[in-house]
Amino acid sequence: MRKSLIRPLVEGLAPYVPGEQLTAKGLIRLNTNENPYSPAPAVLEKIKEAVDGRLRRYPNPGADGLREKLAALHGCKKENILVGNGSDEVLELAIRAFVEPAGKDIEAGERSGSTVQYFWPSYSLYPVLADSAGALRNPVPLLPDFGIASAERLKSEGKWDFEAALSFVTTPNAPTGRGYKTADLEKLCAVQRGVILLDEAYAEFAEENAMELALEMPHVLVARTFSKAYSLCFQRVGYVIGSEELIGALHKIRGSYNVNGLGQVAAEATLENLEYYQKNFERVKNTRSEMRLWFAMHGFLTYPSQANFVFVKPPLLSAQEWYQRLREEKILVRWWADEEVKDYLRISIGSEEEMQRFCEVAENILMNHSNTSEKNGI
Ligand SMILES: Cc1ncc(COP(=O)(O)O)c(C=O)c1O
Repeated sequence: MRKSLIRPLVEGLAPYVPGEQLTAKGLIRLNTNENPYSPAPAVLEKIKEAVDGRLRRYPNPGADGLREKLAALHGCKKENILVGNGSDEVLELAIRAFVEPAGKDIEAGERSGSTVQYFWPSYSLYPVLADSAGALRNPVPLLPDFGIASAERLKSEGKWDFEAALSFVTTPNAPTGRGYKTADLEKLCAVQRGVILLDEAYAEFAEENAMELALEMPHVLVARTFSKAYSLCFQRVGYVIGSEELIGALHKIRGSYNVNGLGQVAAEATLENLEYYQKNFERVKNTRSEMRLWFAMHGFLTYPSQANFVFVKPPLLSAQEWYQRLREEKILVRWWADEEVKDYLRISIGSEEEMQRFCEVAENILMNHSNTSEKNGI
């Protein structure tokens, strides 16, 4: 009898921890970077229309209609695109396609071929995906202001592996919100010999994006999602663009019907209503600017954000205490215990009303703390 029915690798895995998905009445959820605005009415209509006898049928296996529309949008061929069950699936497929699992006795010269590399802090799913594929991880620290070091500096510091089988670069970065310049990313891509996947989950809220690199460089992929900018988290649709060679490899290993039918309907309808979303991007960006001012005026350290969230170091109380106080007032934000980020909160940009409520609650927390400190003679 085997000791356990489960592979040792899986037994030892620490799973990804998503933001809490609570649905209590009156709760304000600023913890999962969801879009505060509903999908376009025409998109909702198309989804409703599709809920009929067709549900008994399998969806288009390759999401061909959606890929054709995406190809027209990005100026490439449908063979340059793979659609996934959210961009999370795309990230997982990339590891399976490009990274060799690391055996126990892996030789020094083979390590790069088994390495998943990323800057840190960034998306906390990367290490989980690397571990579950039996790959080696190489998290490389960001600069103290959460910027990325230049390719020359990365070379001289020696931590970044220019041969790594797969490198994820989150741009704009999560959870910090910092955007990176396409020119800088291009310099890094130019000297990188393994595959680089630029994870652009928040690109629509940014000043620039690096899609051109995926269309020009055969080892560069750009992943996007309909979750954030297009208010479709519920439907799970993401995609990746790159050379036919890399995209073809991903298609070989994807599930036969990996993108659900209603998701395909919703995403196609979204692409027919882009103007509606453009307005939402502007609303989110305006609220983001207002919040940045508010944070600065109330003693929160902030970084310029290019995403639909802000990363702040709160004053007076620890970030964990802020997280708890806000939670008691039914406002959820994201806090992580990891050393590099434990002093910060990541706060998604909600609707104007939600952020108004956030400001009221936060002002009360600040005032109560000042009153208690005064009473205690601090
Ligand atoms: C950086 C980053 N990439 C990818 C994703 C995954 O998005 P989805 O699987 O919903 O497309 C997220 C979600 O939070 C993210 O923050």
